[in-house]
Amino acid sequence: MYQEIDLDKIDIHAEPPTEEPARQFYFMAKCREWVREFEEENGRVPTACVTTFGCQMNARDSEKLRGILREMGYEAASEERADFVIYNTCTVRENANTRVYGRLGQLKPRKKKYPHMMIGLCGCMMQEPEVVEKLKKSYRFVDIIFGTHNIYKFAELTATRLMSERMVIDIWKDTDRIVEDLPNKRKYDFKSGVNIMFGCNNFCSYCIVPYVRGRERSRDPKAIVREIERLAADGVSEVMLLGQNVNSYGKTLDTPMTFAELLKEIEKVEGIRRIRFMTSHPKDLSDELIEVMKNSKKICKHLHLPVQSGSTDILAKMNRRYTKEQYLELVSKIRAAVPDISLTTDIIVGFPGETEEDFEETLDVVRKVRYDSAFTFIYSKRTGTPAAVMEDQIPESVIKNRFDRLLKEVQEIAAKACKVHEGTVQEVLVEDVCDHDPEMVTGRLSNNLLVHFYGGKELIGRYADVELKECRGFYYIGEAAGMPDIMRGNVC
Ligand code: SAH
Ligand code: SF4
Ligand code: F3S
Repeated sequence: MYQEIDLDKIDIHAEPPTEEPARQFYFMAKCREWVREFEEENGRVPTACVTTFGCQMNARDSEKLRGILREMGYEAASEERADFVIYNTCTVRENANTRVYGRLGQLKPRKKKYPHMMIGLCGCMMQEPEVVEKLKKSYRFVDIIFGTHNIYKFAELTATRLMSERMVIDIWKDTDRIVEDLPNKRKYDFKSGVNIMFGCNNFCSYCIVPYVRGRERSRDPKAIVREIERLAADGVSEVMLLGQNVNSYGKTLDTPMTFAELLKEIEKVEGIRRIRFMTSHPKDLSDELIEVMKNSKKICKHLHLPVQSGSTDILAKMNRRYTKEQYLELVSKIRAAVPDISLTTDIIVGFPGETEEDFEETLDVVRKVRYDSAFTFIYSKRTGTPAAVMEDQIPESVIKNRFDRLLKEVQEIAAKACKVHEGTVQEVLVEDVCDHDPEMVTGRLSNNLLVHFYGGKELIGRYADVELKECRGFYYIGEAAGMPDIMRGNVC
């Protein structure tokens, strides 16, 4: 969402403006001119594809890139058909980097065959100097490389590439700058991610994110609420507030504000029916937030609360700044306030120095909390992080054994936790036609569980009351119990 700007009224022969976002609209207009020339020469509009490799924040950045591409005049296409391919990369684990190099290798012959094709690389992986060195040396066919801090400059960098025909590289180490009001193109009409903050200050000892996303900075609450009001006016009823640690929102603002206070402001926006957020760091989750969640009609009954390990010793080495007992105490408090909340988590197996006893502590937390689902990760050594040089890196075979045991435990518990809702009627926001059966649609409960039920695609984006007939492990087969709101006339 942004102010509509008529790019055709911009004088692209004048000097570019110095202020943002006007400067970027100028370069979008310049690229649009190039797109028109391409169309005249080739009898078709050029196509583009942005592929997301990372987390929800990475996905939101991709939506911004797609919005800018649309303004330039590019048409969206699959990666195989696109004239302009952009990889929005992730570097949180080693295999994320390996995937990008593999995919780039596959693009090379295509670029050779179609020299007009452009390849752009951006995102977290580009913030690592050795990656950029490798690309400069061995992947000369890449056209544009930029990082996480200057994504708003995408139009300018594309225009520079179109005019110079040279590899364009623009990576910033850090920034305190937030450019508002640029275009974006949402994946869904009815729900949207909303960045509330950028970066991270926590420096968990295994994690690369603070190095590639920079220091924590919060968006102005008025800009956030304005964006959500515009989204609501555009038909969005569910928002997902995004940040690496939303619980520390507002600390860096000129007039500090807590995350709980921000939630209360967002709750007032008419038309917004569901509010989600991620990620919550346990050390910063306040009683004030629990109280707001308890009293809210809109905040979804789901909390993603990464534990990472159940061992207090390992948690200290991870620099997580809570103990096993504090985490369990926090879970009890949340459950007491919001009894039907669904809890999910992230767990790392095989952190340096993790003993069998430490691992048992993790299993113990899993059994005590009974997560509705958990993302389990094998520890990945990230060069530049403190953990990468810690002694006692754990052998692969030991990690594999622990990982399998953890996964089994998590899955068994999650399947049982999912089943408790069987037979109830719950409100579902319908998201898509079901992948496996075109007669069915797929939607999400407030607690984030998926439900498939018979219904047509006209239900997409609508709320329906659905009876949860049968639990199939991690999702439900349901039956529409009431008329969906579109037919009841209470569309929000
Ligand atoms: N800001 C979020 C997480 C961002 S990264 C938070 O603090 O919870 C998402 C997840 O990736 C982390 O929760 C962690 O479980 C996992 N992760 C991060 N670095 C990792 C590494 N080096 N090896 C394995 N998993 C890692
Ligand atoms: Fe990484 Fe920790 Fe920051 Fe999450 S809170 S992004 S795990 S450093
Ligand atoms: Fe990956 Fe960057 Fe997200 S490293 S997990 S895309 S913040």
